[in-house]
Amino acid sequence: MGDFEVIIYEKKDNKGYITLNRPKFLNAYNIKMRDELYYVLAAVRDDPEVKVVILKGAGEKAFCAGADLTEFLTAPSPVIARQVRFERDVWGIFLNIRKPMIAALHGYVLGSGIEMAMCCDIRIASEDAQFGVPEMGLGIIPAAGGSQTIPRVVGRGYALEMLLSGRWIKADEAERIKMVNHVVPRTELLPTVERIADSIKTFDHMTISYAKQAVVNGLDMTLSQGLELEAKLGKFLLN
Ligand code: COA
Repeated sequence: MGDFEVIIYEKKDNKGYITLNRPKFLNAYNIKMRDELYYVLAAVRDDPEVKVVILKGAGEKAFCAGADLTEFLTAPSPVIARQVRFERDVWGIFLNIRKPMIAALHGYVLGSGIEMAMCCDIRIASEDAQFGVPEMGLGIIPAAGGSQTIPRVVGRGYALEMLLSGRWIKADEAERIKMVNHVVPRTELLPTVERIADSIKTFDHMTISYAKQAVVNGLDMTLSQGLELEAKLGKFLLN
């Protein structure tokens, strides 16, 4: 796959590793990163050799410290921004990938960093991780789905507390409110994520994909609609 500037993409043993790679700037999410992620996520989605995707941040200090504030000040007009979103809907791809995605979270996980983590299916954090939604202080609301995805993961109360008050939480609290599945020592972060990925990839990829669809799509449905979806997907597998 092509050369990227702010993303590293690697493929090993049916796992796709996407690393946010601007460590000097705490992996802040900029336009270049959006474009490269768009490309790499589409490629990963379409690559039959990739059964599980791992998303992580380069460097010691951060998974991602949010949107790049230097670009924030030079934001395009809303019309252009909307057109770009339409053409490069990175968040749409993120949320619609049918392969399991696991986030390895360390250090600062802020703003778009949390939003990327929320697009993943399983989140593992290291003990040094801290989570925050600093958008209020910038006079904006989350722009990458956070107002919808965070409450779907942690519930309305904690989501609104974090969003409205701007309070940051540490890894242990994130685990308690189920923002992350597990907290592990920093040295164990990638090995833990890889162990989970390895156990997932032993199963048939179609079965995995249908199971993910049943859970993820079902969460936006009533119970009876969800049960219908489950039955339909189950039947497809038997055919
Ligand atoms: N956008 C652009 N650059 C960023 C950034 C961001 N969101 N977050 C950090 N950086 C840059 C810093 O400007 C600094 O660059 P420099 O070395 O050229 O000065 C570098 O990354 C290291 O950050 P620094 O602030 O020195 O690290 P710290 O450990 O002292 O503080 C934070 C870390 C996360 C508390 C602080 O960087 C911060 O508040 N960042 C902004 C978070 C934010 O509001 N994100 C937007 C969410 S919508």
